[in-house]
Amino acid sequence: MEGSHLRFPFLPGPDLQNGEEGRKLMVKTGLCFKESSAEMEVNYDRKEGLTAFDVSKAGVKGLTDDGVAKVPKIFVRPPYELAEESKSCKSNLQVPVIDLSAIDGSDSREKVVNEVRIAANEWGFFQVVNHGIPLNVLDEMIDGVRRFHEQDPEMKKSMYTRDPKKRVRFGSNYDLYASKSANWRDTLSISLPASDQLDPDEIPITCRATTIEYIKYVTNLGNTLFELLSEALELKHDHLNTLECGKSRALVCHYYPACPEPELTLGFSKHTDPVFLTVLLQDQLGGLQVMFNNQWVNVQPISGGLVVNIGDLLQVISNDKFKSVVHRAVANLAGPRISVACFLKGVIVPPKLYGPIKELISEESPPVFKDFVVSDYMEKFFSKAFDKSSLDYLRLQS
Ligand code: OGA
Ligand code: NI
Repeated sequence: MEGSHLRFPFLPGPDLQNGEEGRKLMVKTGLCFKESSAEMEVNYDRKEGLTAFDVSKAGVKGLTDDGVAKVPKIFVRPPYELAEESKSCKSNLQVPVIDLSAIDGSDSREKVVNEVRIAANEWGFFQVVNHGIPLNVLDEMIDGVRRFHEQDPEMKKSMYTRDPKKRVRFGSNYDLYASKSANWRDTLSISLPASDQLDPDEIPITCRATTIEYIKYVTNLGNTLFELLSEALELKHDHLNTLECGKSRALVCHYYPACPEPELTLGFSKHTDPVFLTVLLQDQLGGLQVMFNNQWVNVQPISGGLVVNIGDLLQVISNDKFKSVVHRAVANLAGPRISVACFLKGVIVPPKLYGPIKELISEESPPVFKDFVVSDYMEKFFSKAFDKSSLDYLRLQS
């Protein structure tokens, strides 16, 4: 990925549109449509289009700030995908909503655990309400992310990178050079490795205070969810926390600008999350969809609610009892939409061996996955387009 971007270090940056040469380059790379479509087809060079977008460091918001009226070609989904989309039916189902206010009474806790078991097994997704994070903390986190993405573009450009080792990074489409079509989305990610805590000064000032506050709450909620999930697997309540499934975390703060032609592209291509568990905060616009019975189901925003989904790694250690389910975000005419995913990734350094939990293995239920270390799995995931699953790499042949 990195190599292909080094091949065109000479490409102009933000003032790409200026002058005849710049205009030709924009047409050739599909970042501009002021040319007949026949000429565009002939001249279109995807690799150069991606590079021109990448070196602009302005992300998708840079394009919408410039007033693009059409979705540039690098974002347009392949024809077979668009054709499939028009055939697919949409469902009116709802992912389960679980009220966590009942977890302190023993009878009512059992009911919650049952709901979690069914949701984690059948849907891989649920929403939680009365989870203990105050509404103002959620709202301020969304506002902080909005401030970050809407600040002076030059500040964001200085943080733009594809280097996964950077703890705090701004970027657009981490799988830009691997995917078939780019997504209509920019992202700020903040990694919180457990052993070596992040210096607060590394968090952008525009969202620093709100992020620090939100992390405290969402970390606690993660522990509570791992307790409920342990009980749902009929393990001791602290089993998943003893495995330190929530140890290393990342806050991934997405900004989905309004899109002029939303039916041609996606905000986030279909994927599963390469982590143990994800807690997602979304604003009230909507756009997240999950696959259920081969249909896309909208995850309706609930004021004060949070979306929880099982990641690949929890599917593996639960030995298929919980499911990591495909989901995506559609692009929308209205916008921006903001969401914040908190990924709970387990122990990364020093490498820790995880595998199907022994207590869940028996003669009738043999292991269906290999053991793994988290960093190897992540590396596999990030070395390809996100819409290709990595789970098969750990699945044992039956
Ligand atoms: C993710 C994700 C969905 C959303 O970050 O992995 O699926 O609605 N996000 O932003
Ligand atoms: Ni996801």
